[in-house]
Amino acid sequence: MKISVKVRRQASRTSVPTYQTYEVQADPHSNTVLDILHKIQWEQDGSLVFRRNCRNVICGSCGMRINGRSGLACQKLVSEFFGEEFLEQTSGGTHPARNREPEFVPELVVEPMQNLPVIKDLVVDMTKFWQNLSKVDPFVSTASRQISKTEFLQTPAERDKLQAAANCILCGSCYSECNAAAVNDRFVGPHALAKAYRVMADNRDDRTTERIAQYNQSNFVWDCTRCYNCNEVCPVEVQPLDRISQIKQAILADANLPESTPQLHRHTMVELVKQDGWIDESKFGIKVVGNNFKDLKGIASLIPVGFRMILKGKMPYPWQFKPSEGIKEIKSLMTAVLDRRSK
Ligand code: SF4
Ligand code: SF4
Ligand code: FES
Repeated sequence: MKISVKVRRQASRTSVPTYQTYEVQADPHSNTVLDILHKIQWEQDGSLVFRRNCRNVICGSCGMRINGRSGLACQKLVSEFFGEEFLEQTSGGTHPARNREPEFVPELVVEPMQNLPVIKDLVVDMTKFWQNLSKVDPFVSTASRQISKTEFLQTPAERDKLQAAANCILCGSCYSECNAAAVNDRFVGPHALAKAYRVMADNRDDRTTERIAQYNQSNFVWDCTRCYNCNEVCPVEVQPLDRISQIKQAILADANLPESTPQLHRHTMVELVKQDGWIDESKFGIKVVGNNFKDLKGIASLIPVGFRMILKGKMPYPWQFKPSEGIKEIKSLMTAVLDRRSK
């Protein structure tokens, strides 16, 4: 079957990208996107540049964007991108409506990963990706490794905690789709935070306290916007957002840490909902940005915002926030949830 493949080409770091379209004979139900790129490279255009190594979802080299989503070219079957109607017509079987050429030429669009500079065609410069990874110190601490004269054994339950994060093959797909990385160059990214959880949860590591304090700072867990993209694209079920949430829980449970603004933000939301059944915005800014009148600089920073809100008629005044009608039920639900979490 003939398919159309539109590839983003870029000759060098500084040149302007263009799109080039190839027509390729393919079996969409057995060919991967990587097979198609090989067909183009071997049969039509040897100048097309892309990375690959294992061809088997192991090395993480072939990360790229396919029809607008990052993933591994060696994992994705071409048919995955062509929708129900296409699958219905081409997936074989005895019915005459099946196993026939579709009435349209299906198109794949292949582009390099985002949030990293392009070196050439589909190859990106991963330097920032690796630098961000090193910021979380992604190794079990050397000091712990030197302690034991015998094997440092783990129980199956202790090992299970690390399983999801340990699957990461550092392909970059999550980083490419990360909304926080797109707007904040210093955000370490989902891959780094998944590894951060991996070492933080490892009972052989003796730097847990320092790690939790480090990951509580700017550009680590609290800068994630929880867009969920990393969980959706990860080819090996690392589910980085879930790992980020686990680090956040460890931070919130650590009574020795000085309360940071993100922690105060969460505690205040819970406190206000428990109090009145919703978030009273007239108190929220004072409590979080002004740290309950303890941070005078924070209070001062609210004054221009307050004036703008008054001028636009959007100032939240305390008398507008009466306790919600369902407050009794909300309080009992909140108490039940908080009690359960503290067990
Ligand atoms: S977390 Fe998943 S998507 Fe991100 S680098 Fe690791 S394997 Fe790739
Ligand atoms: S959930 Fe957070 S870390 Fe994951 S892609 Fe979105 S912003 Fe990035
Ligand atoms: S070539 Fe190794 S993961 Fe795709």
